[in-house]
Amino acid sequence: MLSLEQTAAVLYGEQKYPQALDIYLSLYKKSPKTEKYSIFCGNCYDALGKPAQAIRFYKKASKLNPASTTSLMALANLYYQRGDYKNSEKFSLRALKAEPKNQSALINLGNIAYCLSDYEKSYKYYQAVYNENKASYIALINMANVSFDLKHYALALEHAEQALHLYPSSVDAYIIRGNAYLELGKFKKSEKALINALDLNNQNPWIYNTLSRLYQKLERWDEALAAGWKAVVLEKNAQDEQHINFGYLLYEYTAEKKGPLAQTYAAKWFEKYFDNELVTYMASAILSNKQLNRANAHYIAKLFDSFAADFDSTLAELDYQVPAQIATALKKVYHLPFYVRARVLDLGCGTGLCAEKIKPALGWSNIEGVDLSEKMLKQAEAKGVYSALHQADILEYLKDLSPKYHLITAADVLTYFGDLKALFENITHALGQNGIFIFSISENMTDDSNYTLTPSGRFVHQPAYVLNLLKKCGCKPILSERKVLRTEGASLVYGYIIAAQKEFIIAK
Ligand SMILES: C[S@@+](CC[C@H](N)C(=O)[O-])C[C@H]1O[C@@H](n2cnc3c(N)ncnc32)[C@H](O)[C@@H]1O
Repeated sequence: MLSLEQTAAVLYGEQKYPQALDIYLSLYKKSPKTEKYSIFCGNCYDALGKPAQAIRFYKKASKLNPASTTSLMALANLYYQRGDYKNSEKFSLRALKAEPKNQSALINLGNIAYCLSDYEKSYKYYQAVYNENKASYIALINMANVSFDLKHYALALEHAEQALHLYPSSVDAYIIRGNAYLELGKFKKSEKALINALDLNNQNPWIYNTLSRLYQKLERWDEALAAGWKAVVLEKNAQDEQHINFGYLLYEYTAEKKGPLAQTYAAKWFEKYFDNELVTYMASAILSNKQLNRANAHYIAKLFDSFAADFDSTLAELDYQVPAQIATALKKVYHLPFYVRARVLDLGCGTGLCAEKIKPALGWSNIEGVDLSEKMLKQAEAKGVYSALHQADILEYLKDLSPKYHLITAADVLTYFGDLKALFENITHALGQNGIFIFSISENMTDDSNYTLTPSGRFVHQPAYVLNLLKKCGCKPILSERKVLRTEGASLVYGYIIAAQKEFIIAK
């Protein structure tokens, strides 16, 4: 004859959680000071997908026995799953205090640091697990992954090899091996590792994603596109990320090869994902759609979220000059008395490259930034150059502003709009009397139209269209200089740095 507790354990083992919970709750009521009943109730609630109730019971258990790592780690894991990294860290650290080498606590702390993009710290936690237990596959595969993110490719490879030694059928280890070899320029070895990974699991989209990048490097374009397409179709979770990668692949194919294959894929992509605005925008750009007059906001937010971490270093590699060129233009046209605390608005501020360059010329002015991408804004915030940052679409944001700004800047942002009329009207309205607007445009060198959407998803403009439109909207152009804005592959990207001043309108 089984005791009540044994019956509940059997029911729990058979995944009959509601029945097990009933018994554990009655046991808990009879004996509320018995730690294990609180833990069992917590486990049942957790299994039933009721984290708030589970947390309540784990906290009761933790109060009864503060040194018990079982309840502390249950709490740490539940908070982690909810994305509450602060509380998850708090309970992991308590568990670590109770048991200084607790492996689950160290792994969880490594995961939290990883999610917060603190890769060095994350690596240290995983390494602490490995130092205690050289047979920890989980520590090694995480060390491999973090090393890769830190761009320590040889180390990533070394850890992937160690992980494979422990667990020879690890798909993740083969994927990291393939990626690391790709970054190290060892293409044959990369391909071999990825084929090994495919032999173990041919449904993993990230294997195809890496294969696609590998074939692109080898200029095996047909295979690159086929693998990229497979990655998109197989992806169930990180769909936006795969779509952005595929869109870029189609763009790079178009820029390099100019064959019809990209168009064929773009049409197929558009048709299959017609309800995804990111896809329809990127595919339309490849298909040279003339109807679009601005970039899709969801596309912008996702694209720049994915660029944010590497944005500054990537643009430095592209010799990106626009912020410095805007700062130079500013010195030529902006002559506010030094005692005026200017109000400045940086549209599409990104990571803050423009504010960093113009701030020295603006003294103690307030610079506000507005951008659609949460992750770009996070980087901007860390630089401490803005007095306020707003996550919004600039067109929407400008609508509600009163005319108060002395200066508005937009560095490499108007390229995400084709028709600039509404934007110029709103900017003119937001400028105070004699306020100045300084911005860049990319030059339309492909056709005669005022603006054209290019396969990169960016619009290019005719300077005459921009200058005339400024005048129509009540801003007088006071500077227009043709410049090389940055490089793209082996070519130079030309554009204009333009400054305009809000015209003083005398009421009749
Ligand atoms: C090429 S980056 C330039 C960033 C920054 N101005 C610089 O010079 O480094 C373009 C930025 O504009 C933002 N952006 C583009 N369209 C936008 C819109 N409609 N509303 C708000 N931000 C936008 C993007 O999110 C991105 O951060």
